[in-house]
Amino acid sequence: MGDGADRARSAHMLFQPAPETKSLMPHPALSANGERVLADLHALRAIGAYKSGVHKPTFSQPHLASLQWLVAKLPKAALTGAIDGIGNVLGKSAKAGPKLLAGSHLESQNYAGWLDGPLGVVYALEAARVLNNNASVAGSVEVAAWCDEEGHFGHFLGSRSFVGAVTEADIDAAADRTSGRSMREALQAAGLAGLAREECERGRHIGYLEAHIEQGRTLESEGLKIGIVTSIVGIWQYRITFSGEQNHAGTTRMADRRDAGLSLAKFCVAIDERFPSICGPRTVWTTGRITLDPAAPSIIPGRAEMLFQIRDADAAVVERLQALMMDMADEVNAQARCSVTVECIRKGTPALMDETFQQAIEAASASFADGKSLRMPSGAGHDAQVLATMMPAGMLFVPSIGGISHHWRENTADADIVTGAQVFVDACRRLLAQ
Ligand code: GLV
Ligand code: MN
Ligand code: MN
Repeated sequence: MGDGADRARSAHMLFQPAPETKSLMPHPALSANGERVLADLHALRAIGAYKSGVHKPTFSQPHLASLQWLVAKLPKAALTGAIDGIGNVLGKSAKAGPKLLAGSHLESQNYAGWLDGPLGVVYALEAARVLNNNASVAGSVEVAAWCDEEGHFGHFLGSRSFVGAVTEADIDAAADRTSGRSMREALQAAGLAGLAREECERGRHIGYLEAHIEQGRTLESEGLKIGIVTSIVGIWQYRITFSGEQNHAGTTRMADRRDAGLSLAKFCVAIDERFPSICGPRTVWTTGRITLDPAAPSIIPGRAEMLFQIRDADAAVVERLQALMMDMADEVNAQARCSVTVECIRKGTPALMDETFQQAIEAASASFADGKSLRMPSGAGHDAQVLATMMPAGMLFVPSIGGISHHWRENTADADIVTGAQVFVDACRRLLAQ
């Protein structure tokens, strides 16, 4: 097991807190069980294994089996719950006192990593097992697995459903981005059609805490163990469609062509040339999918589409970039060779993490991670940004080896996983004690 855990244990033995500061100090009987956390993560990794990662698209058999695995684990954490009508699992506690909501997601990107999502769910489960069963702890941790954080059918469908932001019409319209299967069909096949959807009860929770792998290189490169998330980026997504003229690739002279694919490629390059002058220090943009129609070597494409994303923690920056992109589209249209339309299909709200939650994670890091923590923004989207619209929210990160994620090679050292679990459970304890 990790030496972080050993260090933390010896720190407990040496430390004698004054009575008045007791609730703010590490508590030996209330520590995460690192071996149990690792065993749970490996059990989830074995469901839908792909190389060293997993393939668990939303509502696939391995995703559903992972949700059932979680439901079966809830009673030992003094929680009851089931999979609801949108594929969320919410483990509820009957214990008196304050309730902290914690969790993440269990589906993965296609052929991707084993920790993106499950880490946060297993830490939440561990916190519930440790704290809910201990009579000296006033209050409990409730555990959630939010469905479709990875956006196979929409974006943040599970957590947005929980906060009341998904209508039945949204579900009617949703389809798997890979297979095209409708969400209604997927829910039917999963045996979830017609089941009620869990809804957030205002005032039930003191807040929401989520743990995640960093998915970047900051912690690793600085030799740190815990990221304390200050803000989560907003994600804006666009469908940019170019229309030209489909024609013969051999007989159509270059001067006569209206090649939609070429217009698209030039547009991508122009974005990369022009965005840097007005973007923010951490703005990122990505063309994640390009489709040519037809897509054939001997045909000039008459239509081309790109799915394009901009991320920033400051909505004003994205507004600026969007305005520039619209001007660039006008320039393309003015040239009259190909036409282009820009449609915004996702508008994400950035979220600030709660200061009290950041302090609790920082204090827990001082106790269990030698204070090797850093306040940092999240460039990835997380369900915590949705929950933050309803309650105070916080997030902690553990290091990602090589900063790799959304790839089956994604990994974190066992010792770092265990340290993260210790910090997470202690942060939950501190938040419940406040
Ligand atoms: C979440 O996985 C994201 O794409 O940020
Ligand atoms: Mn994730
Ligand atoms: Mn992800």
